[in-house]
Amino acid sequence: MERYIIAGPRKLVGKVRASGAKNAVLPVMAATVLTRHCCIIHDVPYLKDVYVMSDILQTLGCAVELMKSSTEGNSLIVDPIRVVSHEVPEELMRQMRSSIFLMGPLLARLGRVKVSYPGGCAIGPRPIDLHLRGLRALGATITERAGYIVAETDGLRGCEIHLDFPSVGATENIMMAAVLAKGTTIIRNAAKEPEITELQNFLNAMGAKVKGAGTDLIRVEGVDELGPAEHTVIPDRIEVGTFMVGAALTGGCVEIINCIPEHVQAVTAKLREAGAKVTEGKSTITVEANDRPLAIDIKTLPYPGFPTDMQPQIMALMCIANGTSVITETIFESRFKHAEEFRRMGAKIRTEGRVAVVKGVPSLSGASVEVSDLRGGAALVLAGIAAEGVSVIEDIHHIERGYEKFDEKLRGLGAAIERSSR
Ligand code: UD1
Repeated sequence: MERYIIAGPRKLVGKVRASGAKNAVLPVMAATVLTRHCCIIHDVPYLKDVYVMSDILQTLGCAVELMKSSTEGNSLIVDPIRVVSHEVPEELMRQMRSSIFLMGPLLARLGRVKVSYPGGCAIGPRPIDLHLRGLRALGATITERAGYIVAETDGLRGCEIHLDFPSVGATENIMMAAVLAKGTTIIRNAAKEPEITELQNFLNAMGAKVKGAGTDLIRVEGVDELGPAEHTVIPDRIEVGTFMVGAALTGGCVEIINCIPEHVQAVTAKLREAGAKVTEGKSTITVEANDRPLAIDIKTLPYPGFPTDMQPQIMALMCIANGTSVITETIFESRFKHAEEFRRMGAKIRTEGRVAVVKGVPSLSGASVEVSDLRGGAALVLAGIAAEGVSVIEDIHHIERGYEKFDEKLRGLGAAIERSSR
C-alpha cells in the first residue's frame, strides 16, 4: 500500500505542465481497434488506466508500444492489424470501467464482443443502459448473463438515437460503433464534453465522417473502412483545474502550461467568484490568490457546466472559505465520500443526499485520511498541502490511476510531499 506524507502548510508557486487527458486518451486508444492500420498517439499520460487499456488491446491481438519521454509527453503506437479476440478479460475489465468503450469498436470490427459487467464504483452506481440501448438501436443483439454482456451483429446499421442523459461514455461508444455502420447515425442529446470533440477528430483522422461534436447533435456517416492516424491528445482539463484550485487553496501562484483555457472556463469563473486572480494565455493559465477564498455555491452539470470531476477539489477550497457554501452534485449519486475525510482535517461539512453545506473554517489541520476515488484523492492531497501539520494520505493508487507524476509535479511547485510504502 502506497501513501503520501505531506507537511503543510505550503504555498504552491511556479510553473507546471499539464499532461495529456486521461479521459480523452482512453476512448482514442479503444478506437484504434476500428482500423487495420497503425495509429500513433502523442502526449499519452503515463498512468495506470493507460497501462490497463494497453494490456486489453494486447489481449485482443494488437501490438502496442509506449515510448516514454521525460519532458513533453509519451507516444504510443498501436498496430491493430491482428485483432483476433472479441473478449475483454474480466480481470482487466474489473481494473478499469472505461474498458466498456471497447464494446462499440469490437462490434464494428469483429461483429461480436464479450465483456463483464463493470458494476458500481466508489462514486456510486454507474449503469451502462444508455450504451447498450444505443448499440441495440444500431443493430446489435445483446444478452446479459451471469455478469457478462455478449453483443453480436451481422452488420451495424445507421439509426437515430436520443440519449435520455448526455452520457459521455455512451456518446463515445455509439460514435465508435457508428463509424463503420451502413448509413447515417444521428445522436441527439449527445454529451458536449471536449473529449467528444477529441474522439471525433481522431475518428476523422482515420477517415471517418463524424460531425457535430461539441453540440448536442452528432451525425455519423458510416464508411467501409478506416486508415492509419497520427494524433496528439488534448491537455487534461481536470488536471489543469486541480492545479488551479491548488494555487487558490494554498494562497499561491501557479502557471499551468499546455492547457486549453476554454476547457476550464467553468472552473475559472468559480475561482474568480471566490476571489482568485485568473489570467488566461493562449495555452496557459495562471491562478494567484492572497486572501482567504470567498464562499461560493456550485452545482455540477454536464459540460460546459461545472464538472463533477472538479467537485471534490472545489469542496477542499470551500472548507477554508470565508462563509458558507452549498455544493450540489447532480451527476453522480454518492460523490461526497471525501467530505468525511475533510472533516478529519477540521472541516465543517454537512451532507444530505446530493447536497453538501460547507461552513468555511480559517484553516485545516493535518490528519490521516483515506482515499476512495481518484478526484476525491487529489482534493485530499491539496487540502493536506494547505493544512497545518502533517497529513498522511492512504490508498493513493486511486490518485495515480489518473494523475501523471502528481507528487513530482507538486514538489516542483513547492509542496512537501513524499511517497512511502507501508
Ligand atoms: C465520464 C468521465 C468521468 C466523469 C463523467 C461525467 C471518462 C473515462 N470518464 O464518465 O471522469 O466523471 O464522464 O463527466 O471519460 N449514466 C446512465 N446510464 C448510462 C451511462 C451513464 O444512467 O448508460 C449516468 C451515470 O450514472 C451518471 C451520468 O449518466 O449519473 C453521467 O455519466 P457519464 O457521462 O456516462 O460518465 P462516464 O462516461 O462514465
